[in-house]
Amino acid sequence: MLDKTKPGWWKRAVAYQIYPKSFQDTTGSGTGDLRGIISRLDYLQKLGIDVIWLSPVFASPQVDNGYDISDYRAIDPAYGTLEDMRELIAEGKKRGIGILLDLVLNHSSDRHRWFLEAKRSKENPYHDYYVWRDGSPERLPNDMRSCFGGPAWTWVPEIHQYYFHQFAPEQPDLNWENPALRRELYNMILWWMEQGVEGFRLDVIDQIAKEPDRYITANGPRLHEYLRELSRETFQKRKGCLVTVGEAWGADTERAKAYSAPDGSELSMVFQFEHICLDQQPGKSKWDLMPLPFVRLKRCFARWQTELHGKGWNSLFLDNHDLPRIVSRWGDDGAFRVQSAEMLATMLHGMQGTPYVYQGEELGMTNIRLPISGYRDVETRNAYAERIAAGIPEADVMASLYARSRDNARTPMQWDASANAGFTTGEPWIAVNPNYKEINAAAQTEDENSVFHYYRRLIALRKEYPVFAEGDFTLLEEEHPKLFVYRREAAGQTLLVVCNFSGENVKWALPSEWRSAKALIGNYPSGEGDDLRPWEAKMLLLEAHEKRA
Ligand code: GLC
Repeated sequence: MLDKTKPGWWKRAVAYQIYPKSFQDTTGSGTGDLRGIISRLDYLQKLGIDVIWLSPVFASPQVDNGYDISDYRAIDPAYGTLEDMRELIAEGKKRGIGILLDLVLNHSSDRHRWFLEAKRSKENPYHDYYVWRDGSPERLPNDMRSCFGGPAWTWVPEIHQYYFHQFAPEQPDLNWENPALRRELYNMILWWMEQGVEGFRLDVIDQIAKEPDRYITANGPRLHEYLRELSRETFQKRKGCLVTVGEAWGADTERAKAYSAPDGSELSMVFQFEHICLDQQPGKSKWDLMPLPFVRLKRCFARWQTELHGKGWNSLFLDNHDLPRIVSRWGDDGAFRVQSAEMLATMLHGMQGTPYVYQGEELGMTNIRLPISGYRDVETRNAYAERIAAGIPEADVMASLYARSRDNARTPMQWDASANAGFTTGEPWIAVNPNYKEINAAAQTEDENSVFHYYRRLIALRKEYPVFAEGDFTLLEEEHPKLFVYRREAAGQTLLVVCNFSGENVKWALPSEWRSAKALIGNYPSGEGDDLRPWEAKMLLLEAHEKRA
């Protein structure tokens, strides 16, 4: 168990993301709940994780599945009560598992008390908590678009003004220029800290310093000023022991170093998305697919690893609730599902940073194909309508949804082979993936050769060998079109990670100095010569005394 009172403990931690709506239902409502999470803590402890990032469970009209909060201090009744949350925190603590709450500070719900007040009149004290511009029903302040499609402005006839929203109209942007708003947010965060949470994930945090008159959304001029104030007024009161991870689609390595500066002046780390956007056409939307440029992917990871080493902190992820399932995306979710899921995990978990496992990733859960009526996600549904209206053939539109819809990651957790995968006794809010009889937690926890146990072993290795958290990074075989090979080195330990990123056998001779190394983990039985089998991955370790010999 990690000592969470030691500053920087999270550098050795592994996190697990729960999308509560789809994790475990205990009431038969068809929607997951907090008591469901409590009932699965033993499973998570077995996996070996240290913290849970919990997607939002606050009161919400659920237009964007909780990323539209109407009361930051209340639990949505669909998920349970504040008492349940306190119990989750306490039960987690007993098992060495901390809770990170998901703070949506860029926008609130349009049903939040502040917004209801704000739209009553321009003189209302809450009016300035949001971003308003004059106009007329025919003339928008400008032509900015929302991330979920449609204009970024919505007209309020009662007060003859538009409000700004980077996401759905039901998610009005908060005005960070207003110090009273910022103070309210800090007080709310301090209150959650008192409830015993271990940290926070900060939703689209790079978009808080927007300046719509200048078309600025991400990385506004005042962004880091706001973050430093936020951190000083809240997080720093726990002196490096609170974990904070900001979602920053617009982060490059320079920005990431500011966000995650070792002096703790902003956040612990950020989620950056450079690697995960490489298979999308440059300058186009995520629906415009292209094959993964593998050599660029390696260089991208290598650059993040080396540039942040000693100067910042990476978070490591391939999956989350906004992304399709990685085994379907970069692996092979057919014949080599198990091997490719394990290869991808090996590739990621050998690096420096804090790894995040998204629910079901540890089982090798896959994408799903739904009829258009089966999709629930606001972004997916809007994209479908817009792309059909733009004249794109239906088959192509559907192919892009199958590949990229966020609902791929949001199907219910596959617990066992019983009805609805053991997720609910009622009608699930979104379809269960029909492959649950084959892919489920009950079967995998019983099987030492499962993806689950592979993740468990990977997570344990990070705890056992300091080189995982501390080592530097050297990319090997940079130009190789199929192999991802790298070396990590620290404190007398050298780690070699070898991954075959293809479904073919690849000829590759292990360098002689590695022949006597200790095999830490691998996804095939060892001892069949040098060549790498389809999606094969392994980690080898040399320790200083062995190297000298
Ligand atoms: C983030 C969340 C996503 C949400 C959006 C708006 O990107 O991860 O799920 O839709 O912010 O809050």
